[in-house]
Amino acid sequence: MIKVITFENEEKLDQFVANAIMQVVHEKAHPVIGFATGSTPQGTYEQLIKAYQNKEVDFTHTTAFNLDEYVGMNNDHPCSFAKAMRDTLFDHINISTNQIHALQGDAIDMNEECKKYDEAIAKEPIDIQLLGIGMDGHIAYNEPGTSFESTTHVVDLHPESIQSSLNYGFDRIEDVPRRGVSQGIQTIMMAKQLIMIAKGSKKAELVKRMLEGSVDEQFPSSIIQRHENVLVVLDVEAAKLLQEGTYEKR
Ligand code: PGA
Repeated sequence: MIKVITFENEEKLDQFVANAIMQVVHEKAHPVIGFATGSTPQGTYEQLIKAYQNKEVDFTHTTAFNLDEYVGMNNDHPCSFAKAMRDTLFDHINISTNQIHALQGDAIDMNEECKKYDEAIAKEPIDIQLLGIGMDGHIAYNEPGTSFESTTHVVDLHPESIQSSLNYGFDRIEDVPRRGVSQGIQTIMMAKQLIMIAKGSKKAELVKRMLEGSVDEQFPSSIIQRHENVLVVLDVEAAKLLQEGTYEKR
């Protein structure tokens, strides 16, 4: 079932998502959270850090899985998603480093790396997976045309994704890797709950198609319509093209 909630301001939205994560972290003995990079979840991470500093949450027993990475990139590279997650969240909370799972973009055998990642997720199923939507409709790096049956795999990045990478620390388009490695659609759909966040008017068309369009491999994020427990969390701008009455307002 999909529940869509729109928020009148970003801070309320970020706090709401942070609270949903903290609730699972409080309730479960071994919570498992799937984290996303990109600009959208940054406010949520700031709220989580604040809550940790105020001693409102303890991540000692939390396991984390990252969604994706650039192929060929070491996890210490300044533009790697692994480093971005450390810089924006993990280094500021008390999660233990050996409970942080990240795809190794520079693994010698990428197929083996993908297989190992899926096995690790199967062993510790994800309670909440955070997601954003890419400008080409992707979730994680599952680009248009990716099979809904896909497990973790190497992908050729779509031109829109390469362009968006300029927001993630690259100065020149030539420096952006052309391939990524990503949790597959099937992997993502195994999470017990998905929380999809979208902000801003540039996401409004994409959000409409994701929620009101057909479920179609050409628009990967539309798959969330088939998940049994999904929360879509939007600001007013990202929600502006949705049919009135199909979402809750806060
Ligand atoms: P963004 O990226 O949060 O930077 O818009 C979303 C995505 O590509 O999944």
